[in-house]
Amino acid sequence: PHDRPAKRPETESSRDSPVSTTSLTYPSLHSSTSLRPVPFQQPTGLLTFSYTPKRVLEFTHSALRYYIDPPPGADLRYGYERWIKRPEEKSRLDGLLRAIERVMEKADTSMGTGTGQKWLRDMSVITWRGVMTKILTAPYEERDGCELNAMCINGTIYLEEHHTDARLAEKEDLAPRQRQQTYYGYSFESWCTSSKPGIPERIAGQPIGWGGDVDTNVQWCSVIKTKLGDNRLVIGGEVDCVRGDYKGRTDTFVELKTSMSIRGPEDEARFEKKLLKFYMQSFLLGVPEIVVGFRTPAGRITTTQSFKTIEIPRMVRGKPSAWDPQICLNWGQHFLSTLKSMFTKDAISDQPVTTPRIWRITFKPKEGVTITSLDADGVKEVQGGEDRVGFLPKWYYDLASA
Ligand code: A3P
Ligand code: MG
Ligand code: MG
Repeated sequence: PHDRPAKRPETESSRDSPVSTTSLTYPSLHSSTSLRPVPFQQPTGLLTFSYTPKRVLEFTHSALRYYIDPPPGADLRYGYERWIKRPEEKSRLDGLLRAIERVMEKADTSMGTGTGQKWLRDMSVITWRGVMTKILTAPYEERDGCELNAMCINGTIYLEEHHTDARLAEKEDLAPRQRQQTYYGYSFESWCTSSKPGIPERIAGQPIGWGGDVDTNVQWCSVIKTKLGDNRLVIGGEVDCVRGDYKGRTDTFVELKTSMSIRGPEDEARFEKKLLKFYMQSFLLGVPEIVVGFRTPAGRITTTQSFKTIEIPRMVRGKPSAWDPQICLNWGQHFLSTLKSMFTKDAISDQPVTTPRIWRITFKPKEGVTITSLDADGVKEVQGGEDRVGFLPKWYYDLASA
């Protein structure tokens, strides 16, 4: 129902890489009762890894944190001057791909050489959780556009966010107020976590319960596999902390969020709209619990509330600010299937693709999506002069295309 006429070949930029474009419009947001429900498989954890303060990826739990109730009235401005902020950079898939290499090695070791390759070829999409969240919530997005780069190797689609250098510089150069507000979110994470299960952190010279100064280089990530409709997905994302202990499953994961305290119906509606992103972000990684810290404009926590991820859609159902996850999943299935059929056939000649193209996917709020193959200049911009094939590291490209 949400298709414009499909493949619409446009100008030819060169003989080798004719540009082709497809457009999709977002689905109607009115009712999903007529939609075919698209199943989403419960995510299963493949592995986890940590980024150290030096931003080195290691397959350890060094960055794993444990949930702890924040002290009453916690001050989110605390430690702001000492925030070690990770520089804004192109959000490459490199870390996730290292994890995938490791999953494949493990499969080869336990089930025989070639098992890893077979496993990889079964996957439709490999990307970060943030990218999947943007795709699935796009029908409801009213403000922010977004661009992705895509490549397809042996039937598996790789998606990364596309950030121009100008956009990265803009993000780096935040207004002081915005920078402060961004810090609130990280500060809440520190107040809510400890390096030991169930015991508030005690660091000499710092308030009890403060989990340690914020260093946004440090992250604990989980890589999961799941299935949306008929597409198998491998998704990696940061997990803020676990409740109790971590035993290799996603069922103790906790997502932490801050939000302005709700003072009236307008605030409530605004919060319920935001819940779509909270929900989708957590749902995709199999995170069952979201702890929201409600704060004053000046950054004091007033209350915290724990939400069960699966119960959130029911909370907003029938409200003026309602959203329906089934519309998102249905759209996601349609979107991914469109990519798959475009990327695995040459749009012009209908022949199988031999050399990988790079595609740009542009999300326009309230309109839809365009998918275009990049010309030589676009390809150069994406590659950025490193040892890469398109946006993928060369070592990974060799592994996946073997
Ligand atoms: P809040 O979400 O509590 O505001 P996450 O919630 O995904 O774990 O991210 C932690 C914090 O990073 C967020 O806390 C917010 O401060 C910051 N952050 C994440 N995504 C952001 C974005 N798109 N723009 C600005 N800040 C963001
Ligand atoms: Mg996080
Ligand atoms: Mg969070």
